Amino acid sequence: MSDIRVLSVASEVYPIVKTGGLADVAGALPAALTAHGIATRTLLPGYPEVLKALPAASELLHWGDFFGGPVRLLAASPDGLDLFAIDAPHLFARPGNPYLGPDGRDWPDNGVRFAALSRMAAEIGFGIVPSFVPDIVHAHDWQAGLAPAFLHYDHRRRPGTVMTIHNMAYQGKFPYEMLASIGLPPESFNIHGVEYWGAVSYLKAGLQFSDRITAVSPTYAREIQSDEGGMGLGGLLRERSNVLSGILNGIDISVWNPESDSRIAYRYSEQDLPFRAANKAALQRQLGLDPAPDALLLGVISRLSWQKGLDILLHAVPAILGEDMQLALLGSGDAELQDRYQAAARAHAGRIAVVIGYDEDLAHLIQAGADALVVPSRFEPCGLTQLCALRYGAVPIVSRVGGLDDTVVDAGEGSAATGFKFGPVTPDHLATALRRASLAFHDKPVWRKLQQNGMTTDVSWRNRAGQYAALYRDIVASRRA
Ligand code: ADP
Ligand code: GLC
Repeated sequence: MSDIRVLSVASEVYPIVKTGGLADVAGALPAALTAHGIATRTLLPGYPEVLKALPAASELLHWGDFFGGPVRLLAASPDGLDLFAIDAPHLFARPGNPYLGPDGRDWPDNGVRFAALSRMAAEIGFGIVPSFVPDIVHAHDWQAGLAPAFLHYDHRRRPGTVMTIHNMAYQGKFPYEMLASIGLPPESFNIHGVEYWGAVSYLKAGLQFSDRITAVSPTYAREIQSDEGGMGLGGLLRERSNVLSGILNGIDISVWNPESDSRIAYRYSEQDLPFRAANKAALQRQLGLDPAPDALLLGVISRLSWQKGLDILLHAVPAILGEDMQLALLGSGDAELQDRYQAAARAHAGRIAVVIGYDEDLAHLIQAGADALVVPSRFEPCGLTQLCALRYGAVPIVSRVGGLDDTVVDAGEGSAATGFKFGPVTPDHLATALRRASLAFHDKPVWRKLQQNGMTTDVSWRNRAGQYAALYRDIVASRRA
């Protein structure tokens, strides 16, 4: 029996629309919460992919003018995901990336688009959909950050609020002039409100006005309270540290399961690890790498951005070549990094393979076929690819930051070890970690143990969803008291 109702508010939800881990979390957490007595519905913008995925949606309401055009609120439950979608063509009928126009730049009206998402969340919070009046509105990242502020600056009875930080680097800052058009009162524009260095910050709004704040790992929850990690909001987070906690992400272990994964060449479990070799051979073949079973094959699946530290991995190319390793990288993003990786692949064909783009099938094959997965992030709120790697027996080699530090046990840390960690995040320290991994790789029992430890680590949402359930219950209880 579900006894608590949560409206989750997110700008992307897997498998319908995804640019990063936020979508994975928003897509998988609700099902895991059901087992803990929490009924979730997720509100998302009605981009074309969303409306296409909801052909049987029912219309709950329509208004003639919502932030400059008509709107319909739709409800549907595709594949067990209970969704509300905002059908507002003037804001969301734009194909492709949810945030960027065809020129690769932010849509100029993103401030209005995501204010609309938050406003609708607040209205649902106030009970506009009688069949689903939430006890909690749970906002994810800056795109939903105004929801707690709208709920705060209204005198109606409001539900409890949670703001989850997936990434402090994206804060949703818009000019002061926006304030009136998005419907926040003038008094909200002050240092204890939504004002941030003369502008409006949607993330700050969420952090300021939510009952509780979570970050997606305990270490990140600590890091963001420093001036550097807080990226300008560290002081506010220190002030609110009594309501801030870290809850680790999980992954959807039905999507990421090497025993049943139809996207890989050969399925396997920790009992029959030798079958992984067939996936490695398939990956080498597909990417044009030398068919070398004994070369340590490093995988990378990542957005190519400063956060991910992949410029640092480029400096380690001599170490990779010198130690007889191979590299298979799948990613897209920063144009200069794309070019540099493609040049490295051309210069070292057979040893380095680079695929620029977004390719879920290949992501699964890399997890199943690479010997190790490298995540050299400068900062990493949680990180999901290292969790998939653990489950697939690809030994993670990660920087000692954020959720990477919380989810990988270094080979030097005893019998429960699952991978290799390095820090500070410099080319030298990364190269040292790669050499340590190379030594271990050539000691079969040691490597097998790392893989088995990883594959038997619980990376699912089961227990982690329980921490969100406990948080929701706490908020509901304290608001009743
Ligand atoms: P972030 O959200 O910062 O990008 P995460 O590790 O939390 O990092 O999540 C990234 C998600 O996106 C993972 O599910 C990963 O498999 C996926 N991903 C990243 N890049 C690609 C790509 N080029 N092709 C396919 N999947 C990708
Ligand atoms: C962000 C972070 C990543 C995290 C993901 C899901 O995109 O960069 O570390 O795993 O959100 O919470």
